Amino acid sequence: GEGGHVTDVDFSFEGPFGTYDSMQLQRGFQVFHQVCASCHGLKYLAFRSLGDSTGPAFPDDQVKAIAALYEVADTGPEALPGDTRPGLPSDKFPANTAAGAPDLSLMAKARAGFHGPYGLGINQFLKGTGGAEYIYSLLTGYTGEEHEAAGSILYGNEVFPGGKISMAQPLWGDDVEYTVHGGGDHEGEEGYHGADYTPPEATIEQEAKDVAAFLMWVAEPKLTERKEAGLRNLIWLVILSVLLYFTNKKVWASVK
Ligand code: HEM
Repeated sequence: GEGGHVTDVDFSFEGPFGTYDSMQLQRGFQVFHQVCASCHGLKYLAFRSLGDSTGPAFPDDQVKAIAALYEVADTGPEALPGDTRPGLPSDKFPANTAAGAPDLSLMAKARAGFHGPYGLGINQFLKGTGGAEYIYSLLTGYTGEEHEAAGSILYGNEVFPGGKISMAQPLWGDDVEYTVHGGGDHEGEEGYHGADYTPPEATIEQEAKDVAAFLMWVAEPKLTERKEAGLRNLIWLVILSVLLYFTNKKVWASVK
């Protein structure tokens, strides 16, 4: 394959009224944490953002517990260069350059995905930029072929440009056991029935979709707020137009 085959996936955050599904972001975080974090960093994401109500909405105690699972650079007055300490909610996720893997903080915006018909651009508005689709497709696009190249191995992938990637297939299904930590208002979200939550089965596709959604949120955490502000402005403009219409009529009433 030559790469470039991106699948269209329906994500909750697409469309003018789309929002993130907090439960999905919690699952996506679990995939990132248990699988991707061994090679990839998220250096622009602060742990405390994991508590955002329009994001993963992890409760405060969970945010603290998650932060403490990561070792961050200790820059305290008594620290020596290279010292680390467990993370705090105010810290950012550590960078991770060990395996030569790129930082994933902005990856969902750095890669374009499903654009629909060439040149229209309307799909960007309706379906988002497609970076999440690209990540989903990349993770599910392995062909199983291995190529030896200058002493290292490249793995066949239908989506990666050129068709060969140095990242071995990271997801195989059942890589994580989905649990949920609650918090926020999850009414109507996948698998949520009041206090009960039955997570979906951890298939490759489900894991890929969840981690892609999580990485979209990481790259674009204020998406919901932006859409709400846009709608608010639109309503104000409609009200303003009506007022101006009547003002205009009144002002010119004497001029026949
Ligand atoms: C590249 C995602 C796990 C090593 C990438 C890219 C993405 C990604 C989006 C960029 C592809 C591009 O440039 O278009 C993920 C996700 C993972 C994961 C979501 C977990 C589900 C891993 C693991 C390793 C790894 C566990 C190491 C064992 C790499 C490397 C690259 C890469 C070395 C550079 C590939 C190249 O340019 O040929 N990954 N990754 N990744 N990843 Fe991962």
